Amino acid sequence: MAVSTENILNLVDIRIIAYGSDDYAAELQLRDRVLRKPLGMSLFDEDLTRDKADIHIAAFYDNVLVGCLLLLPVAENVLKMRQVAVDEAFRSNGLGGLMVDFAEEYAQKQGYKKIELNARETALAFYERHNYSVTGEQFFEVGIPHRKMLKVF
Ligand SMILES: CC(C)(COP(=O)(O)OP(=O)(O)OC[C@H]1O[C@@H](n2cnc3c(N)ncnc32)[C@H](O)[C@@H]1OP(=O)(O)O)[C@@H](O)C(=O)NCCC(=O)NCCS
Repeated sequence: MAVSTENILNLVDIRIIAYGSDDYAAELQLRDRVLRKPLGMSLFDEDLTRDKADIHIAAFYDNVLVGCLLLLPVAENVLKMRQVAVDEAFRSNGLGGLMVDFAEEYAQKQGYKKIELNARETALAFYERHNYSVTGEQFFEVGIPHRKMLKVF
């Protein structure tokens, strides 16, 4: 039986997880599966040591990690949102949006004033819906077109 959007969102838990934990290992698997394998790449070929500086936000459904979003402090008042991914089976239920809301609430509580990100062009509409604005021309990252986006609180 299909699980309804309402049930999914009621059962989702979003929280900050620790770098190096078992949850972090599950996050790496999700990032590899969603963000790298479809491009013919492997996350595990990259230098992942910089992950240590990120705040790791994860979404759990029935204690299984099904979404992630990282926040990297890049300047005194600025965070960079990166590695936003939702398991394919859970997309279009508002889960990505909930992680963005969680990230923004965290950022504001910590006194950050801006969140910047490099959006895949395929995800522009998703971020625009959350009031992120395109700030630059198209560029390529991991072989696919991106645009810089920004939200100022
Ligand atoms: C981009 C991504 C993280 C969005 O996650 P998601 O959980 O599907 O996001 P949401 O469900 O909040 O929003 C996606 C769409 O679902 C729809 N939606 C949102 N809430 C909904 C709800 N409660 N019920 C039904 N549909 C809903 C919206 O139409 C939204 O459309 P939009 O993208 O045009 O704004 C996900 O598609 C993904 O992992 N993509 C592959 C990796 C990727 O591109 N990451 C971004 C890199 S910059």
